[in-house]
Amino acid sequence: MKILVLNGPNLNMLGIREPAIYGKQDYHALEAYCREACRDLGESIPGGIDCEIYQSNHEGDLVDRIQQAYFDKVDGIVINPAAYTHTSVAIMDALKAVSIPAVEVHLSNIDEREEFRHISYAGKACVKSFMGYGFEGYRKAVEYLIHGD
Ligand code: DQA
Repeated sequence: MKILVLNGPNLNMLGIREPAIYGKQDYHALEAYCREACRDLGESIPGGIDCEIYQSNHEGDLVDRIQQAYFDKVDGIVINPAAYTHTSVAIMDALKAVSIPAVEVHLSNIDEREEFRHISYAGKACVKSFMGYGFEGYRKAVEYLIHGD
């Protein structure tokens, strides 16, 4: 099973940016966490999980990577579009275009933050959202892609 983990703008600044909201661990720790989650959860699947992780600060790069996932025959996408969550019709359309099951993740609970964070365009193209669980949300997302509810 192939899983693509996509992270949007400023997530590369984890550990530095607003640690009271996003925690003290850096982006490398998040990558390591996702790899370990895929390794562990992959033990329940024949062939395990082939996990690719990509971060970009640029909307078009994220759209390109979502489109590429179609040609790479990716089975599931875990996406934290970060600030593009609240603005990007292009990312939502790309997710719809490839028809790959996608799960939205946010480290913080966007529904309990500023009003402008309450709208999620990407979420409209996702089968499930996990928010406010910190890194653990990524594990829950992979688990959901494998087993569903
Ligand atoms: C975020 C929430 C977004 O509102 C914000 O712009 C981010 C991170 C989260 O993981 O909590 O950059 O997606």
